Amino acid sequence: MTGIDLEKIKATLLADVAKSDTPQDVLRSPAFKNMYSQIGKLEPSERAAFGKAVNDVKVAVEAAVHQKMTDLEDKDVNTLDVTAPWDVNAGAPQLLSTSQGTQHPLTREIEEVVDIFTRMGFAAVESRQIDDDFHMFGALNFPENHPARDGYDTFRTEEGFIPPAHTSTMQHRILKDGKDALKHDEPIAAVSYGRVFRNEDVDATHEHTFYQVEGVFVSDDATLGQMLGTLRSFFETYYGQAVKIKTQPAYFPFVEPGLEFAIEKPAALGGKPGDWLEMLGCGMIHPNVLKMAGIDPTKYRGFAWGGGVERLVMLKYGIEDLRHFESGKLAFLRKFV
Ligand code: DAH
Repeated sequence: MTGIDLEKIKATLLADVAKSDTPQDVLRSPAFKNMYSQIGKLEPSERAAFGKAVNDVKVAVEAAVHQKMTDLEDKDVNTLDVTAPWDVNAGAPQLLSTSQGTQHPLTREIEEVVDIFTRMGFAAVESRQIDDDFHMFGALNFPENHPARDGYDTFRTEEGFIPPAHTSTMQHRILKDGKDALKHDEPIAAVSYGRVFRNEDVDATHEHTFYQVEGVFVSDDATLGQMLGTLRSFFETYYGQAVKIKTQPAYFPFVEPGLEFAIEKPAALGGKPGDWLEMLGCGMIHPNVLKMAGIDPTKYRGFAWGGGVERLVMLKYGIEDLRHFESGKLAFLRKFV
């Protein structure tokens, strides 16, 4: 025999549960380890019976813990005065706090981005969070069944709707909406911003849900040079310093030529010369895209660009992991108060 009195241990543990406000702690009591460690010391013939007795103690204590936790929860609910001002019960549930919430950093930065473009004369519209195949692909000159569609990892609802994979879904609407302005010799100038979705595995640089900002400009004499100037001026305003830019050819069905646009990571943000960061896609709007919106491509020309918001913000604040944004972690969010 072990000389240990299981009944006595059980009584002590149950008494501990009864007087504790955090009864689950009792389950971590060293008394359990103690009991288990005795099993190995017994004669093989005694082990089964003793093991069962120890298990009975554990089951009884677990049941008591469970009951006590339920009682405590009930008590909390019963003593919560729902008519009381917000902080009267402060100190009990930690959710009650006198500090105010703040804007999410992405919301704040999107407002900042949109503000910069608004000051340059662009109108701003929020993008949709549910859209259709035509705005996602057709109106953007993606041929039916073209492999370029696969690059967008789109989700689809059972009814065939698409949570948009880019804010370019707004281009056709912006163009159609603005085509009367062109007749009055006013350019179309609009940015569209919002949430986009891709069926991707999440890691430090990929999210299934993220944000983009898109720009569209059409006039009778729009040029790539104007676009590069506009974008450079945006980046310099957003980062508050001179920024070097670079482009290289890229394929997007809705622009011709299409470009990838990179900036050199500014020294003040930890960059070295030659640290190029790709920020967005852009180009001269494809004649077919203009035509589909009822704009005559022989009279008008346009440029467009679009890119992710998170990477802008990550560079600005030195954030190393994209997943922080959607994590809801207060420690992260409070850094932006
Ligand atoms: N929609 C593209 C994407 O998400 C980015 C893009 C490329 C937008 C070229 C544009 C553009 O407006 O002209 O990958």
